[in-house]
Amino acid sequence: MEDMIDPEKAIQIREGIYWLGWPDEDAGFSNNPYLILDGDEAVLVDPGSRLDEHWAWVKKKIESIIPLDKITMIIVNHQDPDLVACIPLIEEIVGVNSFEIVTTDRTAIFLPYYGIKTEVTTVEDGDILQVGSRQLLFITSPYLHFPGAMVFYDMKEKILFSSDIFGGFSVDWKLYADKYYLESIKLFAQPYFPAKRHVLNFLEKIDKLDIDMICPQHGSIIQRDLVEDAKNTLRNLEVGIWK
Ligand SMILES: [Fe+2]
Ligand SMILES: [Fe+2]
Repeated sequence: MEDMIDPEKAIQIREGIYWLGWPDEDAGFSNNPYLILDGDEAVLVDPGSRLDEHWAWVKKKIESIIPLDKITMIIVNHQDPDLVACIPLIEEIVGVNSFEIVTTDRTAIFLPYYGIKTEVTTVEDGDILQVGSRQLLFITSPYLHFPGAMVFYDMKEKILFSSDIFGGFSVDWKLYADKYYLESIKLFAQPYFPAKRHVLNFLEKIDKLDIDMICPQHGSIIQRDLVEDAKNTLRNLEVGIWK
């Protein structure tokens, strides 16, 4: 953990965009929910675990910026517990259907398994949602690492919220990636992603985007100077290697 980072405080990474993450030393990675504020819209991205100690951190960080009942949307990039398990706890506090959930149809199937009751708006590859002053472009990322997985791109800030893609295991975690983080990306992607063709398919989809920052759900935030290196790291990586 970087000395200057208070793990209990939300960190603004762009005007109106906050990192709400926490390190999970047992898992060997950080978990990175984000909050996007734009006018009356407050979008929570992959809020995460329902474990007391994890959720307490995220809740405290959200409430350091806005009350929970101001959340208007939760974007769920896929259905893993480290992205969505706390949503029923949010529903208990602010009520079912007091916000909108946005995800793919394959992911939506599993959300009730967690006890999530809020209605879901499903998006498909290439859909764009207007959220306040910005447009969010949704991009499906099949098999990385779930058939219904997606990512999204903030067209205003040119930020790719990439979920597990570009995530990293990291012992010496830093909020912002340096060149050593490329090795962390390899450690994460090799076991999680099943085949190179899915990785190449995804890289082709994002190749046309002008990406100023990548915000993954694990690991470190990648700034513009490392974006191409990060893409090439995945492009050249052998994945699906567990036997
Ligand atoms: Fe995942
Ligand atoms: Fe994850």
